[in-house]
Parts: sequence; C-alpha cells; structure tokens
Amino acid sequence: MTQYAVIGPGAVGTVIAHEISKVAAVKLFGRREQQVVLNSGSNDYKINVSSLLLNSDTFDVIFVAVKVTKLASILPALQAMSHDNTVIILCQNGMGQLDMLHEFNAVQAVVYISGQKTDDYVRHFQDKKLILPVNQELQRISQRLDATKLELVVSPDYEAALWFKLLVNLGINTVTALTKNTAHVLELPEVMQLTEQLLQEGLRIARAEGLDFTAQTVQDIIAIYRTYAGDMGTSMYYDTLAGVLLEYDYIQGELQRLARKHQLTTPLLDVCCTLLTGYQYKR
Ligand SMILES: NC(=O)c1ccc[n+]([C@@H]2O[C@H](COP(=O)([O-])OP(=O)(O)OC[C@H]3O[C@@H](n4cnc5c(N)ncnc54)[C@H](OP(=O)(O)O)[C@@H]3O)[C@@H](O)[C@H]2O)c1
Repeated sequence: MTQYAVIGPGAVGTVIAHEISKVAAVKLFGRREQQVVLNSGSNDYKINVSSLLLNSDTFDVIFVAVKVTKLASILPALQAMSHDNTVIILCQNGMGQLDMLHEFNAVQAVVYISGQKTDDYVRHFQDKKLILPVNQELQRISQRLDATKLELVVSPDYEAALWFKLLVNLGINTVTALTKNTAHVLELPEVMQLTEQLLQEGLRIARAEGLDFTAQTVQDIIAIYRTYAGDMGTSMYYDTLAGVLLEYDYIQGELQRLARKHQLTTPLLDVCCTLLTGYQYKR
C-alpha cells in the first residue's frame, strides 16, 4: 500500500492530508507534535501532526507544503524519509525553487487550495486542486486518490498553468504586500493601473520564455481579481502583517532574473523587487 506523507501542517498541507486520510494512510509532519483543527464548510476536523525531526519512516509519495522560505531547512529530513522511488510533489507558489530538489524525483504542483492558518486553526476557503505535469507515475497517484475531493489534474497545459498562476500572484501579491492592504486596494484606479502595468511586464517575460500568452491573458487575470472579496488577503499580505520572510524571491525575484536573462526592461517590477528586498533586509 502506498505510504503518503505531507510536510507542512498549514493551510495547504492540512487540506491535502485530510483528503488523503479518507482513502489511505497518511502522516502530516510539522516542526513539532501537535494537533491542528481544520475548518472546512461547517465542520471542524482535528488532525494530528507528527514531528518531522523525530520521524524514522520512509514514504512513497511526499507532498511538501511548507513556504518556500522554509524549503532549504527541511531538505535533510526529506532525504531521510525518501527511498529511491519516492515521488515528491512540491505544493508551493512561485517558480525556480524546484532546483533545490534536483537530487529528488520531484515535481512542482500548481496549487489551487485556498486557506489561511492562524495559530493551530486552519480555515479552508475554496478549491482542492493540484495541477501536475504529464507523467505516468503522477497519473497513477491521481487515480489512487480519485475517491477523495483532492483533485490531482495531470495536464498537458501544466507549463501554462504554472505561469498563469505566477502572473496572478505577481499582480495581487505585490500590491497587497506593498500597500499592506487587502484586495479592495484594487478599487483605487491608480493601484489597478499599476497592477495592470506590472502584469504587462510579467506577460513580456512569459512570452520571452516561450509561453503563448496574449494581451487577453492580462485581462483574464484582472477579471479574476474582480471576483475577489474586498477583505481577501494574500499570503504575501499576511506575511508582511506577521513580519516574516516573504516568498518574493521565487515570484517577483524569479521574474526579475528571467527578465534580465532576456534583457527585458521591467521598471515597475524592478522597483517592486527593490522595495520587497528592503522589507526583507535584516528581518
Ligand atoms: N494558503 C493559500 O491559500 C495558498 C494558496 C495557493 C498556494 N499557496 C502556497 O502553498 C505553500 C504553503 O502555503 P500555506 O499557506 O499552506 O503556508 P502555511 O499556512 O504558513 O503553512 C506552512 C506550514 O509549514 C510549517 N513548517 C514551517 N517550517 C517547517 C519545518 N521546518 N518542518 C515542518 N513544517 C514546517 C509551518 O509550521 P508552523 O505553523 O509551526 O510555522 C506551517 O504549518 C506556499 O508556497 C504558498 O504560497 C498557499
């Protein structure tokens, strides 16, 4: 029987572990042994968390759902809990961090699971979907989890999905983090204009990387932003409020690196990266 593990008992990891537990054995790992409560719909579920440091088991499939800023710190544990055929599914926003897992059989999922963790309480808002690249083993894992509400979509359009999500995050995460305000900040025409211009820069980077995106892509993303509740925060917004490190190096930072690779001029992105670097400085 497939042995599943999930690392990171937060908004994303708790939902994944809870769904898998309906059909298979799964262990949810965090920094320490504890219990978290997952609120989904009108139900509360108590979920046990094991200490990653104390683990001595190996697993066939490991979902990694820590923030990118913590990925390097779990690598020794990940090594110890993997065998030659372990599949690692990195469930994170951003791009480029998969390089840190080059020694593993690892793929990155495009994550459509929305939630928020406060202390030991996780609220799931919407979606339980992970988009994955085409690969027979991933297809098999997806089939094994078919009876759960966790959708593992193995998609030939994976690359476009990863980029689309990156651009969605580029706009909304940047403006909510830098203004320390929720999605209603987009009601200000000047903020919406800045967001759209930032997305235009992101679009040019995506196209330089070979993505078949058009001007319509930017409009599609803005249409998504218009569906957001005004009081909705983003992970980068919550991270700035909490005063913790941001995942910006693998969202805005990665886009800036790619822009430089293609010798593209991205003045707005550059200013945003400078401000985000300033935020991180000595933090
Ligand atoms: N939340 C969303 O709606 C959403 C949507 C799409 C994508 N994502 C992406 O999904 C990824 C995970 O986000 P999230 O919102 O689930 O984050 P989160 O709620 O902060 O959860 C991350 C969890 O990782 C744990 N962790 C940190 N260091 C660890 C370590 N060394 N060993 C074991 N566990 C450790 C944290 O434990 P402590 O609580 O003890 O610190 C926390 O429970 C991020 O890349 C995020 O951008 C999130």
